[in-house]
Amino acid sequence: MPVRIREALATLPAYAPGRTVPGAVKLASNELSYPTLPVVADAIAAAVADDSPTSVAGINRYPDNGATNLLAALSGYTGAPVGRLIAGCGSVALCQQIVQAVAGDGDQVLFGWRSFEAYPIVTRITGALPIQVPVTAGHALDLDAMADAVTPQTRLIFVCTPNNPTGTAVTSADLESFLDRVGDDVLVVVDEAYREFDSSPDSPDGAAVAQRRPNVLALRTLSKAYGLAGLRVGYAVADEPLIEALRKVAIPFALNSVAQAAAVAALGAADELRPRWEQVISERARVTETLRSTGFEVPTSQANFVWLPLQDRAADFAAHCEQHAVIVRSFSHADGGGVRVTIGSPAENDQFLAAATSYRS
Ligand SMILES: Cc1ncc(COP(=O)(O)O)c(C=O)c1O
Repeated sequence: MPVRIREALATLPAYAPGRTVPGAVKLASNELSYPTLPVVADAIAAAVADDSPTSVAGINRYPDNGATNLLAALSGYTGAPVGRLIAGCGSVALCQQIVQAVAGDGDQVLFGWRSFEAYPIVTRITGALPIQVPVTAGHALDLDAMADAVTPQTRLIFVCTPNNPTGTAVTSADLESFLDRVGDDVLVVVDEAYREFDSSPDSPDGAAVAQRRPNVLALRTLSKAYGLAGLRVGYAVADEPLIEALRKVAIPFALNSVAQAAAVAALGAADELRPRWEQVISERARVTETLRSTGFEVPTSQANFVWLPLQDRAADFAAHCEQHAVIVRSFSHADGGGVRVTIGSPAENDQFLAAATSYRS
């Protein structure tokens, strides 16, 4: 008799990452397209080299499970006390910990759709039910409809802003009105994975909101703007009892010592990174304008990617881009199809725009 795998996993798709194709430009995973800063590379090298037999921090030792130095750096960076902070193996690991902490069998987890692909997966892993509220005709989260969809079974709501993959951001005023409507016993996660690319003055600061409202958690990552996608570092700001619960469901030592050292260095180098974020923002405007002038619909994005709601032409467009050695991310039609394109270096963006323009002509 075969091993009995949980019924809940039978129809659960595994997470599908953006594809890497040798020789092609990858604009499929919203990474930062710049080399590692020397100060970060030095911190990584030092963390690896610190392996003398008497060292207490070399990679022959387990990492600091409490991520003491990193939490201290994050505390300085966010203004939140250390007790209100947790770091994890990417913010996606924290997403899973959050669901595990607050939603079990039959509980409802609500989010806009389309939104981050991992939300329905981490929800169903625990046996909770994903409730997907369609985005507006303008591809923005429909916070009114999301508040209307809250039931006594709702335990958790993900508000992804800027939203992956549509790029739209909610305003601070709209988020506050939404939070006023949602019960205090429902956890609202403000997923700010792309916040450093958000140039709107009306956007919320989730970490500040999380310090005012005990049912709000701000989720952030160093994978995008900080260029550490390969090292896996995310963090959350929330009320202490919730942080305590997230610690209980964490996989021990999941955040390795090299990643912790690199994250501290990257946070300290925010001023060096900022010009890169500014270039992404100006390139985003250029890519958006060029696409629009060619006839594509492109919602205004506050992230490091743009969304092309191509519906049933999404896969065809992605295949055309691949023929031009550019890998983009297409999402199936049934769920509101489209193509998400990361903003890369100016040369990479030119290569994508050449491909996109030739699709139209
Ligand atoms: C909205 C959003 N949240 C969280 C994540 C997870 O990022 P990471 O696990 O690399 O921190 C992603 C990654 O694409 C994302 O788009």
